[in-house]
Amino acid sequence: MQETHKHLWWQREIIYQIYPRSFQDSNGDGIGDLNGIKQRLDYLQWLGIKAVWISPIYPSPMADFGYDIADYEDIHPIFGSMEDFDTLLNEVHSRGMKLILDFVPNHTSDQHPWFLASQSSRNNPMRDWYIWKDPKEDGSPPNNWLSVFGGSGWEWDEKTGQYYYHGFLKEQPDLNWRNKEVQEAMFNVMRFWLDKGVDGFRVDVMWHMIKDDQFRDNPKNPHYEEHMATYNKLLPVYSTDQPEVHGIVSRMRQVLDEYDERMMIGEIYLPLDKLMTYYGYERKGAHLPFNFLLLSVPWDSQVIASAIDEYEGALPTEGWPNWVLGNHDQTRIASRVGWGQAKVAAMLLLTLRGTPTVYYGEEIGMRDIPIPFEEVQDPQGLNMPDKNLSRDPARTPMHWDGGENAGFTTAKPWLRLDRMSHKINVEAQREDKYSFLSLYRRMISLRQQELSLMVGNYTPVYSDNQIIAFVRELEGHHRFLIVLNLSHRPCYYKPHDLELEGVVEVATYPELEGTYVKGTIILGGDEGIVVRIK
Ligand code: NOJ
Repeated sequence: MQETHKHLWWQREIIYQIYPRSFQDSNGDGIGDLNGIKQRLDYLQWLGIKAVWISPIYPSPMADFGYDIADYEDIHPIFGSMEDFDTLLNEVHSRGMKLILDFVPNHTSDQHPWFLASQSSRNNPMRDWYIWKDPKEDGSPPNNWLSVFGGSGWEWDEKTGQYYYHGFLKEQPDLNWRNKEVQEAMFNVMRFWLDKGVDGFRVDVMWHMIKDDQFRDNPKNPHYEEHMATYNKLLPVYSTDQPEVHGIVSRMRQVLDEYDERMMIGEIYLPLDKLMTYYGYERKGAHLPFNFLLLSVPWDSQVIASAIDEYEGALPTEGWPNWVLGNHDQTRIASRVGWGQAKVAAMLLLTLRGTPTVYYGEEIGMRDIPIPFEEVQDPQGLNMPDKNLSRDPARTPMHWDGGENAGFTTAKPWLRLDRMSHKINVEAQREDKYSFLSLYRRMISLRQQELSLMVGNYTPVYSDNQIIAFVRELEGHHRFLIVLNLSHRPCYYKPHDLELEGVVEVATYPELEGTYVKGTIILGGDEGIVVRIK
């Protein structure tokens, strides 16, 4: 087992994302909380999860459901108290698990005392902590930058006669990361949580943190289409991904490196070549710049096969890969590719080289839930109502059992549940070997037992218009061939460059498990297998 010592926990383990409002309510207010998460740690342990990332739990007016933070060093009462947090952290650690917090450095809430001070007058010592600019001569905003959530990125402040910049909601003013005091204050926020023993951060919109110092206009996007968010009308080349951001990321990394084995995931939606730069010079940037490839490519075997290889090929030496199928901002995988393919996707996620992040509910095949117009809560949905951009459908409460409200709450849940939660839930799936949950559990357990799957090499061996096949291996350990049928039709796979012979360890449909394969492999539609080969 000595190879595991070369790899750190964030390379070996699976990360599980919890959207805290929707995981488990423990106090009957219809909203999930920290004690609820604590109650479900046994489940996560049973599933084989060893690292949990929790979306923001800090005091917040909830204009963007916690991504608008009013105090970086406290807990929102809706989620519990600091004592509850300390207990949760303890419980997580006592199970040998790790806890990753969301860190939102790009912007605060407009109710944060820093912003209130900054807004109070032009002479306030904190004025420069945010991005304030004079209007153009005609009174219009200083440049054309847009907000991700619709409309201009600039908000007029009547009292002090300037605009402030907000890449997201106007209730989320952007911090000025060129200001040294801001940097120090935020590094100290990191230290506050690291001192408590938090194991890492998922850093929100890392590529937004520094803007062009000349505030030049963004160019038009020639590929804009009407159905897209209005933000996409321009290419954000001056408002995001500025070269100086890497200096900031490496300073954040230095803070983490003051401690043992802490880690940082960067939320970055950028093309591959740019994404890779976030690993930093000599790998001293983010440990894991989130790889969202599988969220954006069409579900087409050949496109995916080459995307995987492009990613593998682009990784810097010793840059550790990672994979994601969904998160709280994206359509759930089951709604994007259908239930059949969602199992194949799970097998892909859990067999590719690198750290997988599982979004809560993915493991039971939760899908996006239609939320009636009058119940929409997400500001992105509310601000652009005709574009179907609300993220609520992917944020609905977890289904634990077949009871009313699926065991999530005893009250009215903050977002409505799937009408099918009585069928699609943890309790119903635990003992059903055909279920999503059983497949996830078998896959996770195999991955944990087999070093080749956990940290071994990846070699592509075949792809066509239905199939992706690759090998995972590590010297001195079992070798695995993964064959996935990304279509709904049966397929045949006859390996050319492998003397193929082996035993199916895990299959999307369990009948194949334990069977011996030699020569041509035949798979049904939506089937995938992991074969231990010689
Ligand atoms: C990315 C987060 O994932 C998303 O939920 C949030 O709305 C924006 N950043 C703004 O913080």
